Amino acid sequence: MSSMWGEKIRLSIFGGSHTEAIGVTIDGLPAGEAIRMEEVLAQMARRAPGQDLTATTRKEADAPRVLCGLLNGVTTGAPLTAVIENTNQRSRDYENLRVTPRPGHADYTAAVKYGGYQDVRGGGHFSGRLTAPLVFAGAVARQLLSRRGITVASHVVSVGRCKTGDTPFDPVNVPMELLNRLSGEYFPVIDPAAKLAMREEIEKARLEKDSVGGIVECAVIGMPAGAGEPMFGGAENLFASILFGIPAVKGVDFGAGFSAAYLRGSENNDTFYYNENGEVKLRTNYSGGILGGITSGMPLIFQTAFKPTPSIGREQDTVNLQTKENTKLVVEGRHDPCIVPRAAPVVEAAACIASLELLKQSGML
Ligand SMILES: Cc1cc2nc3c(=O)[nH]c(=O)nc-3n(C[C@H](O)[C@H](O)[C@H](O)COP(=O)(O)O)c2cc1C
Repeated sequence: MSSMWGEKIRLSIFGGSHTEAIGVTIDGLPAGEAIRMEEVLAQMARRAPGQDLTATTRKEADAPRVLCGLLNGVTTGAPLTAVIENTNQRSRDYENLRVTPRPGHADYTAAVKYGGYQDVRGGGHFSGRLTAPLVFAGAVARQLLSRRGITVASHVVSVGRCKTGDTPFDPVNVPMELLNRLSGEYFPVIDPAAKLAMREEIEKARLEKDSVGGIVECAVIGMPAGAGEPMFGGAENLFASILFGIPAVKGVDFGAGFSAAYLRGSENNDTFYYNENGEVKLRTNYSGGILGGITSGMPLIFQTAFKPTPSIGREQDTVNLQTKENTKLVVEGRHDPCIVPRAAPVVEAAACIASLELLKQSGML
């Protein structure tokens, strides 16, 4: 299993949904960085379940306990490890999934790979719960970034087939005040009317015992020009590799992304100019802040697509891996009809960690 990420800022995420605890070790943090725990807890609260009907009704305290790496609230330079106890397990909900895999979930592929020995309880190591330690690590990274003038936030731009989506970021001008507001909210949106419409779409799916996916748009501002490498060491590669580690992520695109394929060069090229301070700027930002894998100094903008929650309350076709027969499955337990509102802070956490890694790899930290 590869539950480790990074070269300079190395993360190791451990545990499963129903093990005694889950947690993270962050190696490579500079020493002497004060970490405000109330800000870490605020980020974790944005991800925690049980906040409203768009999320699972399962309640988890998500209280991290720092074992090492901080002394009097300041990083020591040694690995920082935090554990979060799992307090709300209902393991009996899941035992049948060992033989009758859920369509859309990892039960089948895990059974093939681990020969049936995998922990199926609550999705085990495949659970969305593993994003809690990721958010912890992201909240630590966010504080280091903020001290260096870098701000990260996201919003939910669309949910399912809901016709009303949120207003996208202006890719050239992303105000810091907007990012500060969004990064403090559960279900962050720029336009509150869009949130109402998206909530209705989620509620409709819930009442129909179904689920919906959606898209989170994220912005990183203040990232200096010149970070990243060409080809395999690019900023896009780095962000994409951590974002695809988030369960249920099926797509990541930067700037104009897939829609750049429909533009002409004359439309898609971000032309350069000198501003009044003699700095090179780009008039547009179709490239999403990255050219040749290297940051341009423009806002880094990317979208992350989440599939609909696999576990739904409807009867579905599956197989019985023991009797080798076709069968039906109704998934028991508590599940988010849409994980996207809870996933927004997870995307931000991944972006914070990737940004810190990018700075460190580029000798800027
Ligand atoms: C915050 C979060 C919460 C999630 N909650 C659930 C859930 O309640 N039920 C479920 O079936 N999947 C949930 N997922 C998604 C599954 O973990 C994921 O689809 C599964 O592990 C298969 O991996 P894949 O979709 O990346 O292929 C959640 C994902 C995230 C990020």
